[in-house]
Amino acid sequence: MHSDSNALNSITTEPGASDADSLFGKVLDLSEHGLFLVDSARKIVLWNEWMAQASSLARGDVIGRTFNEVFPELAGKRVASVIETALDMRTASLLSRSLNKSLFPLFSANGGGERKRIEQSVIVKPIQCDGRNYCLVQITDVTPMVQREEVLRVLAREAEAAQKAAEEISRFKSEFTSTVSHELRTPLTSIRGSLGLVSSGVMGELPLEVNKLVSIACNNTERLLFLINDILDIDKIESGKMDFVIGPVDLMAVLRQALEANQPYGEQYKIRYVLNQVMAGVAVRADTDRLMQVLNNLLSNAAKFSPEGAEVEINVLQNGAMIRVEVKDFGTGIPLQFQSRIFEKFSQADGSDTRKTGGTGLGLSISKAIMEKMGGGIGFETEEGKGTTFYIDICEMAPA
Ligand SMILES: Nc1ncnc2c1ncn2[C@@H]1O[C@H](COP(=O)(O)OP(=O)(O)OP(=O)(O)O)[C@@H](O)[C@H]1O
Ligand SMILES: [Mg+2]
Repeated sequence: MHSDSNALNSITTEPGASDADSLFGKVLDLSEHGLFLVDSARKIVLWNEWMAQASSLARGDVIGRTFNEVFPELAGKRVASVIETALDMRTASLLSRSLNKSLFPLFSANGGGERKRIEQSVIVKPIQCDGRNYCLVQITDVTPMVQREEVLRVLAREAEAAQKAAEEISRFKSEFTSTVSHELRTPLTSIRGSLGLVSSGVMGELPLEVNKLVSIACNNTERLLFLINDILDIDKIESGKMDFVIGPVDLMAVLRQALEANQPYGEQYKIRYVLNQVMAGVAVRADTDRLMQVLNNLLSNAAKFSPEGAEVEINVLQNGAMIRVEVKDFGTGIPLQFQSRIFEKFSQADGSDTRKTGGTGLGLSISKAIMEKMGGGIGFETEEGKGTTFYIDICEMAPA
């Protein structure tokens, strides 16, 4: 007899302990797969240790019994018919867990003694030996893979839900912004124009008390418009829709213009802007309007947070390859705990309703975004009670 068939015979002919004792049986017992063999009479002739553990059926209980006796619950199921086909037609099959819900009733015991059904992938193969047909069934535990798939499915579902929510928020935001832009800005501009005309006296002199009220209404309308414009700017920056016309800009000319425009504001706070150090004829790589917007914010901030009668110094100097504009005040300084948040949207050291200064806390976050878009930067040095120096760095450029 051929040695292979000897090995097979040793585990097929004698049910019980003998197969486990053979070398072949010992090797099969070490397998990390479930293995059993069915002969042409549909009787189980091999049952490895993995099968015994997972089915709780000892080898002695199954060897010599038919497949249907051992697994009565699988009668009429695909797995049973596939074994029949392997024996009769000699064709192999793979049964995956996702397509065949009813595979073998096998369980794994976890540490706590709780038994969990094993998710399986099953290969059914015909084998011939000594002219006799057998069918080998190999079972792989795919539970960890199924669990990973389940986790991935849950994560994918969550990511989809989060994306939907983000899209919804973004849609809402753009609708809101366009409402602000069209439904509020336009009528507000017209209200401001009308109030301005009335308070200027062009429409006839008003009693003092009435004029005072109209001026207050006019100022507040102006503030609302500033806020709306800031919100629209933030929206444009965040959606990448803020247009920049970058080119060589005569820095001193823009700076003088900004100082002139802020002079009345400075007077309100009783401060004086002093152009201390200049660089005549220097050109920088910038968008004139946006640079003006940043300078306006730094100059108005310095005025707001300075004591009455103080000076605000402006210096223009070379800083490596960049040109630096400094706005130095001798005011309150910025509290340490607020410094890290100063460039965030709507952040103000004093966010209370009772604060003395106006503004919405958007100026610096807009300024930072603008400076970065122009390839420059913004920063500050401050000492509480002594004052603050805000500076912007801009790339130097050959004049136009
Ligand atoms: N020179 C400064 N000295 C002290 N604190 C400052 C100075 N500049 C800015 N801050 C602090 O940073 C906050 C944010 O400034 P930012 O310019 O962003 O907003 P704002 O001036 O309050 O309002 P907006 O500029 O939108 O009208 C200010 O409210 C203030 O608390
Ligand atoms: Mg400001």
